[in-house]
Amino acid sequence: MPLETLAFLSTLEQRVGLTDENKATLKSQADWGLQIAPEMADHFYAYLGRDAEMSAILHDGNGRIHRLRETFIQWFHEMFTGMDDWGQAYADRRWKIGLVHVRIGIGPQHVVPAMATVIHEVEKRIQVDGQNQALKEALSRICMIDLAFIEQAYVEVSSDAVLRETGWTQGLFRRLIATGARSM
Ligand code: HEM
Repeated sequence: MPLETLAFLSTLEQRVGLTDENKATLKSQADWGLQIAPEMADHFYAYLGRDAEMSAILHDGNGRIHRLRETFIQWFHEMFTGMDDWGQAYADRRWKIGLVHVRIGIGPQHVVPAMATVIHEVEKRIQVDGQNQALKEALSRICMIDLAFIEQAYVEVSSDAVLRETGWTQGLFRRLIATGARSM
């Protein structure tokens, strides 16, 4: 069954504690977000480039790294604007970003530390620019939501593929996973 992206976003907002005040803070600093986005992209790709495996994925010889820089800047800015006030468009976009990474085979082991780098670098800039604590809190919450979308895409795509291929039910699949986890 396909993921209900907007419902998932709403669940994550509650789990992470993203409030209307957090959203207002993000929106009020959208220009600042756009202004620092290129620098954040530089840090992000420098970080990925220091890892042999991720560097090989990035430098595919077809200008991938240049395309990615632009999409990163857009992604970063969208965290501040919320696109359609963190509605359907935002949820669908985050889901699609997850699917793109699953397709390329970029896993949680890559994505989680990469997001930690974004948070670390943005916090440094918050301090340098004298931004307040409220922005730091709002940004780390929205980053966790975006990260959860990418992670969940793995789970959904993998289980959906197995269920389609085998005709198993969700219940059987879950039991098999539990049994497998016990034996590891
Ligand atoms: C914080 C985590 C990450 C964020 C927010 C992020 C963001 C994005 C975005 C917005 C796109 C464009 C999706 C689209 O085409 O619709 C993308 C694609 C992609 N990302 Fe990431 N990314 C993350 C982690 C990584 C990591 C760890 C790698 C490892 C190398 C990576 C490599 C790629 C690649 C290869 C593409 C596809 C580029 C293409 O050929 O068009 N990303 N990413």
